[in-house]
Amino acid sequence: MKSVEFKNVYMKYAGAGDYSLEDISFTAKKGETIGIIGSTGSGKTTLVSLIPGFYPAAKGEVLVNGKNVNTYELSELKKKVGFCFQHYYMFKGTIFENVAFGAPGATEEDVKEALRISQGLDFVMEKSGGLNEKVSEKGTNLSGGQKQRLMIARALVRKPEILVLDDSSSALDYATDRRLREAVKELKDMTVFIVSQRTASVLHADKIIVLEDGKMAGIGTHEELLKNNSVYKEIYESCTKEQ
Ligand SMILES: Nc1ncnc2c1ncn2[C@@H]1O[C@H](COP(=O)(O)OP(=O)(O)OP(=O)(O)O)[C@@H](O)[C@H]1O
Ligand SMILES: [Mg+2]
Repeated sequence: MKSVEFKNVYMKYAGAGDYSLEDISFTAKKGETIGIIGSTGSGKTTLVSLIPGFYPAAKGEVLVNGKNVNTYELSELKKKVGFCFQHYYMFKGTIFENVAFGAPGATEEDVKEALRISQGLDFVMEKSGGLNEKVSEKGTNLSGGQKQRLMIARALVRKPEILVLDDSSSALDYATDRRLREAVKELKDMTVFIVSQRTASVLHADKIIVLEDGKMAGIGTHEELLKNNSVYKEIYESCTKEQ
């Protein structure tokens, strides 16, 4: 079953001269993991922002479960798509409140399960207050990687059909990032979009979309792209050097 489909999608921000996305087409089946990679400014965030309908497409169509996103009630789409932003928003309150934010009625078990998947449960339980540990304004008493894992748990606790992780694991070490991806993969029915600048975060994906300057430079598995896509190969080589 098709979960997300882009048909020749163009997107331009209000007031911008150029398109930020041009002629994007792909299909994500239910349960698939889609990686999105490309250098800074290549259009990754713009692409995934169209799935929950944050912006309309200038041309073409974005479909969720076969239905144009423009025809959904925004609240309905919001329920289907869990989004973990590049820039996190944390507030003064407990860890429980910060994770359950946006999911009224979430139980302690729900929050723990979301934290288990986001690889945050261990560090939370090591805090003296556990789920009731206080988070300070903007989360200044947490590390970058801890905040990212709470934000991923926040997206997961709503049990979305589609999960978008926009550069959400950049502060995690490679081993934790890998465990996170393995845990997310257990969620068989969830369609997952992983946006990243590093190939290690997407190489397991069913499909990887390579963006360059708002256009699709390629789509395929890690092995396919490594063989026949020069843009992907270049990113891969610079990532392995960095490592
Ligand atoms: N709110 C906005 N208004 C106008 N232009 C924008 C806006 N957000 C992004 N852009 C432009 O759209 C293009 C794509 O940006 P986008 O944020 O999608 O890139 P990205 O691949 O997510 O980059 P990064 O890896 O740095 O997060 C850029 O040229 C950027 O300047
Ligand atoms: Mg981005």
